[in-house]
Amino acid sequence: MECIKTINEVRSIVRKAKKEGKRIGLVPTMGYLHEGHLSLMRMAREKSDFVAVSIFVNPIQFGPNEDYESYPRNMKRDLRLCEDVGIDVVFAPEVPEMYPEELLTHVVVEKITDNLCGTFRPGHFTGVATVVSKLFNIIQPDIAVFGQKDYQQLVVIKRMVRDLNIPVEVIGAPTVREEDGLARSSRNSYLSYEERKVAPVLYQSLLKAKGMLDKGERNPDNIKKVMEVMISSKPYTSIQYISIANPCTLEDLEVIKDKALVALAVYVGKTRLIDNILWGYEDA
Ligand code: PAJ
Repeated sequence: MECIKTINEVRSIVRKAKKEGKRIGLVPTMGYLHEGHLSLMRMAREKSDFVAVSIFVNPIQFGPNEDYESYPRNMKRDLRLCEDVGIDVVFAPEVPEMYPEELLTHVVVEKITDNLCGTFRPGHFTGVATVVSKLFNIIQPDIAVFGQKDYQQLVVIKRMVRDLNIPVEVIGAPTVREEDGLARSSRNSYLSYEERKVAPVLYQSLLKAKGMLDKGERNPDNIKKVMEVMISSKPYTSIQYISIANPCTLEDLEVIKDKALVALAVYVGKTRLIDNILWGYEDA
């Protein structure tokens, strides 16, 4: 497995694989890989013949008071994990390779970025859509795999690809969790021992919502109230948002009909955690 730092080199390696008739898969990441990332890689492995993983902590998707500087990094370990999964090439550029000069062009996805995390992270999804479209142009994959853990991000990328006719098939992969239900995340490493103990309450509250929906509750406010009480009863927690939304438009639902996205962002200590479930789908 090769680890490549320049755009030119990775392009020529992928070009060669394409000439051999291989279907190219891409898994974009910011590194500090965990089982969630690895499940995406395995899915890409199954659905393509040549898998590229990008590892790049993208500065333009972080707000001024967010954790760009302190975002966890461990390239050596990441490369070993990629090798173990059978990745063909890792693209790990430095910031000047991706952003050699002031960036005057951005990809802005509207409306579906107004709610959920978009409300609290202005510019975040523009940073994500811009870097992902750069990665799509650099690698030119046939498929790309993203996690449902970042559900809004998945919807944004799918929409960008549709709106701009980008010839990439975007595939969503299920959320991988710890045994106690906590969604895997690179940011879990920020949690203290005590914080880690209360963090599963996010998923527990989502399961509670699912239970209420299964029993016929259709008023989002009633469900949100129960979730709020559950989460707030735990120390260190502070809710940023709980949303019950249309899974396609991400708009808050006033009445729940057949399908819903239940999503939340909660601070546990200083660490912002997100999670979500889909309700009303056969496999969700
Ligand atoms: P990162 O947070 O490293 O996540 C990379 C990919 O792994 C994303 O598609 C994310 O949804 C997925 N992922 C993370 N935790 C997961 C889990 N527990 N189960 C399943 N999938 C999981 O998301 C980003 O990086 C960046 O925004 C990026 C798309 C790379 C653009 O910079």
